[in-house]
Amino acid sequence: MQTLKPAIHFKNVNFHADNKHILKNITGSFYEGTITSLVGPSGAGKSTLLKLCNGLLSPDSGEIYIKEKDINTFEPVELRRNVGIALQNAPMVNGTVFHNISLPLTLQGKKLEKSTAKDLIEDVGLEEELLHRDVRDLSGGQRQKVSIARTLVNQPQIMLLDEITSALDRVSKTEIEELIEKINKKYKVTIIWITHNIQQAIEIGDYVWVLMEGEVIETGKSTLLKSPTHHKVKQFVKGEME
Ligand SMILES: Nc1ncnc2c1ncn2[C@@H]1O[C@H](COP(=O)(O)OP(=O)(O)OP(=O)(O)O)[C@@H](O)[C@H]1O
Ligand SMILES: [Mg+2]
Repeated sequence: MQTLKPAIHFKNVNFHADNKHILKNITGSFYEGTITSLVGPSGAGKSTLLKLCNGLLSPDSGEIYIKEKDINTFEPVELRRNVGIALQNAPMVNGTVFHNISLPLTLQGKKLEKSTAKDLIEDVGLEEELLHRDVRDLSGGQRQKVSIARTLVNQPQIMLLDEITSALDRVSKTEIEELIEKINKKYKVTIIWITHNIQQAIEIGDYVWVLMEGEVIETGKSTLLKSPTHHKVKQFVKGEME
């Protein structure tokens, strides 16, 4: 069996906010080229954990390594380029799709070539003419695809996705799921994604981390969700499936 290399490694990571211990002694790896589903009840600390992976937040103690390099040794721009993030509401600035997709480069003082924009938009399954559309006129599914295209501009090695399908209809959900798998396979991007949908977590994820009250209480192949060992995970999975 091929040995897996960590793309991100957490070592005894703790995070507090307002005197609340939000993440408790997190240790573990997200492996290169794999998809890990991050699941757990609301308030468990999933989004907080994701934000630590690209420096939006910093731990109070412990260490985080990106490809075996201490996260603190990265320049912020370099870190954002390597580790992309997409969120549930796909925040956009006013303007066209092209304008929004260009943003990561504009912020670095660079320009996005029209041909690259065309490739990107087609890569996420949208028509080229959409580049000139005002982002306010996009459907939820299109918005998410644009948000993913914007993340791909930097050719990230790691992508963090926070509940990007939860507000979508079934068809758009499936399209985004397929897109996540395609990006993982085609570009070998390591993906960590948060979902409340256990079936999705099993199907799309190679691995899973189950987070509860700030602790990783079960981790392994995503299929473990079919027969969890921990009684709390059993209850959680049962509740989510109902
Ligand atoms: N900046 C902050 N200040 C105070 N408390 C915070 C802050 N950020 C998060 N929290 C708290 O930390 C806990 C974990 O929040 P987090 O958003 O990471 O949970 P989550 O697992 O993503 O939940 P959900 O599934 O609802 O998105 C929650 O109790 C939240 O209220
Ligand atoms: Mg969250």
